[in-house]
Amino acid sequence: MAFARTCSVALVGVDGVIVEVQADLEPGVAAFTLVGLPDKALTEARDRVRAAVVNSGETWPQRKLTVGLSPASVPKSGSGFDLAVACAVLAAAERLDPSAIADLLVIGELGLDGRVRPVRGVLPSVLAAADAGYLRVVVAEQTAAEASLVPGVTVIGVRSLRQLVAVLTGAPEPEEPPDPVGGRPDPLMAGLMLPGAGVRGLPGDAAARMDLADVAGQYEARRALEIAAAGGHHLYLKGPPGAGKTMLAERLPSLLPPLTQKEALEVTAVHSVAGLLPAGRPLIDRAPYCAPHHSTTMPAIVGGGSGLPRPGAVSLAHRGVLFLDEAPEFPVRVLDALRQPLESGEVVIARSAGSMRLPSRFLLCLAANPCPCGRHSRRGEGCECTPAMVSRYQGRLSGPLLDRVDLQVQVAPVTRAELMQRDSTAETTEIVAARVLVARERAAARLAETPWRTNAEVPGYELRTRWQLASGALNDAARQLERGLLTARGLDRVLRVAWTVADLAGRDRPDRRDVRTALVLRTGVEQGLPLTERFDGWSGPSGPAPEGDGDPVEKEKRPARPRTARTKPDRHAETEETVV
Ligand SMILES: Nc1ncnc2c1ncn2[C@@H]1O[C@H](COP(=O)(O)OP(=O)(O)OP(=O)(O)O)[C@@H](O)[C@H]1O
Ligand SMILES: [Mg+2]
Repeated sequence: MAFARTCSVALVGVDGVIVEVQADLEPGVAAFTLVGLPDKALTEARDRVRAAVVNSGETWPQRKLTVGLSPASVPKSGSGFDLAVACAVLAAAERLDPSAIADLLVIGELGLDGRVRPVRGVLPSVLAAADAGYLRVVVAEQTAAEASLVPGVTVIGVRSLRQLVAVLTGAPEPEEPPDPVGGRPDPLMAGLMLPGAGVRGLPGDAAARMDLADVAGQYEARRALEIAAAGGHHLYLKGPPGAGKTMLAERLPSLLPPLTQKEALEVTAVHSVAGLLPAGRPLIDRAPYCAPHHSTTMPAIVGGGSGLPRPGAVSLAHRGVLFLDEAPEFPVRVLDALRQPLESGEVVIARSAGSMRLPSRFLLCLAANPCPCGRHSRRGEGCECTPAMVSRYQGRLSGPLLDRVDLQVQVAPVTRAELMQRDSTAETTEIVAARVLVARERAAARLAETPWRTNAEVPGYELRTRWQLASGALNDAARQLERGLLTARGLDRVLRVAWTVADLAGRDRPDRRDVRTALVLRTGVEQGLPLTERFDGWSGPSGPAPEGDGDPVEKEKRPARPRTARTKPDRHAETEETVV
């Protein structure tokens, strides 16, 4: 028989498409043709496969050889088809039994010496194979653990083509030393790693030692962090240099609950396609963290690049945290490109060869100084920037982008007393994460019959109509809506945060104080209330005790403070609520 076929997988984003690899041998002048929309790396497979077959002690058929990859309409790239092509050729040449490879799914790159090298995207490939009903897959030994994450599939991990031939023919397996190159290349050196991307808190990682208790003071920002983690709300930390914004954001991923099995597979699939799976940990089961530098290019943020397109920062942060430090320094185009993934939870990259979809449901955390010199304050002390410079700097974060950010927090400089005194009541990450988990479970139980899991995902209409708030809870928000300080979309977002505040406080539904807390956090405008008052009813310990009785509803009956004594709403708060 001069024809044989086996299967492999082409990746389109993080979706796998089963590709049939067919080999046909005809009498004629020795030649090797590869058809079926291969890219440059795949065309080079011809030379790699021929050398690998010969160096594995097999005979290369001296006939007219055609290898076809079907369906021909799907673009195929990379070197992951090498092993499948070699198997099909050997079966067509009657060195292997064609029926032994017909129901096999084969993924791996071949070295010229016949070694099988790992490729990116093994997990999504094997997931696609399992969906298509394949029961046995062959991969490089280094990626066998990753492939084994998929239930119901038998994984054969091989070191070389020679070893695979022995397995398939029932011959004794040759002794193969482990790969001297040692598994995968360093992702950073291979140009795969996006600096700042990764999974936080792995053992041995410096981030594992970062704890929320290290942050002195900043009670309001810490609570905003807790609310963001509990409800999946996006967060914007504004403040002068050295106030602890970066410190706070770095501690956000460890507040998020561990990923469910389904989420873990999704996240691992993205990191597998990016070639970034942490060594020895095939499954990523905790929230990833991605903090790209502001000089990072557009394709590195949203995904793309030549060859096998790579997930960008928005996808590497899927189910985790995307932190844009010094956010106004990012190109405006890049910031605005975040709007689509923020809205839909996925990014679609269109190419001439076709489009691909990558998941990107992340928690966005922005941090910014108030102006280029960082010293601009409402009193304007010490700031060297002109008003035009300040407004240009702040204007780089567009209204529509900020409109998607539910929590906007002013991070004030820490006082000397806060910094020098060891605060024995400072809560650790463990304590706050436990509260976040309880709040998430509360929300998940309420949303059990719906497709959503966190408050941030629930559409506004559902939020307004499906679940009741305590009576009078919406009074303040309604008043702001009438005054034109809050838009309809703004109201929906306030409601979402109010539900999270109620979940954290263990209440069945938000009351008026929860909505006020949400309003303050949404608009960044203090509503004429002392800061600590916003968090009345909070279940966890808080910062300095509120003055007086701390009841905002009671306080409201008191005469309003003169306008001058009240904090002036900042520019973003005004624009975001009035523009949209
Ligand atoms: N609240 C705080 N508690 C303890 N240490 C702090 C706090 N704020 C700042 N620091 C110290 O200052 C350093 C700088 O803080 P961080 O980088 O978080 O500031 P930042 O607000 O991000 O500043 P920038 O705007 O310049 O980026 C921290 O590494 C820490 O040592
Ligand atoms: Mg910083």
